[in-house]
Amino acid sequence: MPDTPLTGPGHVRLGSNSGQPLTRRDGFLKVTGAATFAADNRPAGLLHAVHAISTIARGRVRSLDVAAARAHPGVVEVITPANRPPLARDQDDKPTMFSWRVETLQDDRVRYAGQPIALVIAETLEAATEGAHLLAPGYAPEPARIGFEDGEAFEAETVGIGSPAAFVRGEVEAGLAGATVRVEFRVETPTQYHNAMEPHAIVAAWDGDRVTIDSPNQAIAMGQAAFAGFLGIPPENVTLRSPFIGGGFGSKAILSGPHVLAALAARMVGRPVKLVFRRDQMVGPVGHRGATRQRLRLGMDRDGHLTALDHEAVVMTSAFDDFLEPAANASQNIYATPALATRHGGVRVDLGTPGPMRAPGEASGSAALECAVDEAAVACGIDPLEFRLRNYAETDPATGRPYSSKALRECYAQGAERFGWAGRPLAPRRMRDGAGRLIGWGMGSALFPAPMFRAEARAVLRADGTALVETSAVDMGQGAWTALAQIAADGLGLPVERIEFRAGHSDHPDGGVAGGSGHTATAGSALFGAGADAVARLAELATGHPDSPLFGAGNAGVEARLGRLVHREDPGRHESYADILARAGIAELAGQAVGARDPAHARDRAMFSHGAVFAEVQVDPDLCQIRVSRLVGAFAAGRIINPHLARSQLNGGMIWGLSFALHEEALHDPRTGRSMNADLAGYHVPVNADVPSVEALLVHEDDPYVNPLGVKGVGEIGITGTVGAIANAVWHATGTRPRRFPIRIRDLL
Ligand code: MOS
Repeated sequence: MPDTPLTGPGHVRLGSNSGQPLTRRDGFLKVTGAATFAADNRPAGLLHAVHAISTIARGRVRSLDVAAARAHPGVVEVITPANRPPLARDQDDKPTMFSWRVETLQDDRVRYAGQPIALVIAETLEAATEGAHLLAPGYAPEPARIGFEDGEAFEAETVGIGSPAAFVRGEVEAGLAGATVRVEFRVETPTQYHNAMEPHAIVAAWDGDRVTIDSPNQAIAMGQAAFAGFLGIPPENVTLRSPFIGGGFGSKAILSGPHVLAALAARMVGRPVKLVFRRDQMVGPVGHRGATRQRLRLGMDRDGHLTALDHEAVVMTSAFDDFLEPAANASQNIYATPALATRHGGVRVDLGTPGPMRAPGEASGSAALECAVDEAAVACGIDPLEFRLRNYAETDPATGRPYSSKALRECYAQGAERFGWAGRPLAPRRMRDGAGRLIGWGMGSALFPAPMFRAEARAVLRADGTALVETSAVDMGQGAWTALAQIAADGLGLPVERIEFRAGHSDHPDGGVAGGSGHTATAGSALFGAGADAVARLAELATGHPDSPLFGAGNAGVEARLGRLVHREDPGRHESYADILARAGIAELAGQAVGARDPAHARDRAMFSHGAVFAEVQVDPDLCQIRVSRLVGAFAAGRIINPHLARSQLNGGMIWGLSFALHEEALHDPRTGRSMNADLAGYHVPVNADVPSVEALLVHEDDPYVNPLGVKGVGEIGITGTVGAIANAVWHATGTRPRRFPIRIRDLL
């Protein structure tokens, strides 16, 4: 497959589809119930699987009443460590970068409360559920280690997915010692669960040594390879389908033990098996955002310029795997400082293994950083926006590299203007509304990397003037089906209505991962390139044929315009795609391409999306109840393909920031280690009544380096900056600096 012909710097000219605020092309299917989610599949002969889960957090399973479960009418099989099918590769032998240790009932150890300890397969969901109850496990419990104090501290080597745990540039201690003003700030962030609307699910159906798997998955090709590895069959024998996903947020990028076990179970019983997680069963086996304790130290000179920035995070992980929230790394790329250090420590507790969750690292880390920066501005007697401008990084503080583009100044200016930041009193407790409530204004900088991964795509021009485009990249609700189709249409020079866009199937070219906020950039580049490749082949057919009005123009002499090739210098000469294909007697003309970053740009430039978030809160002076009354974010994220969907992503991110600041917290009973809020009633997320006016401004930004499309990403950045902005507004309203999230009434008393 050729690399995309699009090499920078410099943009390709996108067509008229990009930039349009189209609504979701799959919206109709979803609201009418026609969209097929994984759990909707019912292959013939289907059996239902239900997990029995542990009610202790640590110890061993001593007994399971398998006989009682087997005796229940409708129960077909009970899988326990005694009879579980073997894995084809070691559970710790991670096949892809998004692999965690898979737990498939290898042993009788309990490592967290809610851990699957047996799988019951039955003719009906009810029979499987009852069978799981009848197992009545007996345990040999050991004391659970749930909090930072109980856990086992260890030195971290890497954080996130392979980043070094520690980073130093310059002399931090000297920078702090030489500072005129010093600030030390500590804050805690809680454990959070992804809690996507659609629970994790899998339907596995074998046909000989081939298996068809329906399961929501953010990275189809990696998922296919991981399934194949653990099942011991070649990847091409695994068909993985994930056409619709009801929210992923990172947890559906990673294969978990229950998925693999369900596929093994289907092979064992010789019939298709469906496993759908109950809401409470999503606490443990499928990842979460690990809790953090963070400390920042900032030194400033008399003018409020940073002399040093030091960010340390101690983060929780499980007792049996290693994902560490890269929280402190959030301080590496945003404020200019001659001395910068970030480092992480780990603490092992008896919870499931954490993983990437929307804005992994940046969400928790920027929450801490933005509060610390607010405190630093206060200590210097400088307006928080002015303080950030004084410490504006013209080059990336971590690497010294120039930014590929950075319209953060414009974000500050446009956000502040829209919010009405000017005239904000420096001191807290100075503003009240008509009802006597304290009013506070706060802000935070937003930042998220603009990565690209690798994706392949195929585009096929058809004789009837329509086109088919394919990439296995998925839409997890963010609107990828729409924005990517717009880019594909521009690559093909067709109106988007004439594009059939197929995605979410392992038979498609590898679309990479829908994650890291790099999906539109990566899969979009592949799709554009594939379309351009098909059009180039079409142009060769036309310009090389004496009967074409474009004969002799050469490929460079024609351009694609909504289904026609047009002579660049003589626009009266043109020919439709359909006519060109008809004359050549070709039914379908295919193009293909790879989307990936130009390595030279990746080496030479720092690439991030940026933003500025402004928050207003109202605090009841007697009850200390906090309400966010306004959020304004201004974001610069390169070229915006679909402003409607981009705003929707940014609004959603800011609302998640509100959730982080005031609502979300997974609670585990420190005595038992059991979740106390494993449902959407107890695990608070904002509802409409909690969400005020939220406004996302899209700030123009031209980026000739990220990729020829100029596209960065908008999926995760909205959370960053927002948490700090709200906490800082709470300080401004009350004079009390929040030191943990979510901020509670008791923290303000
Ligand atoms: Mo995301 S946490 O990159 O799915």
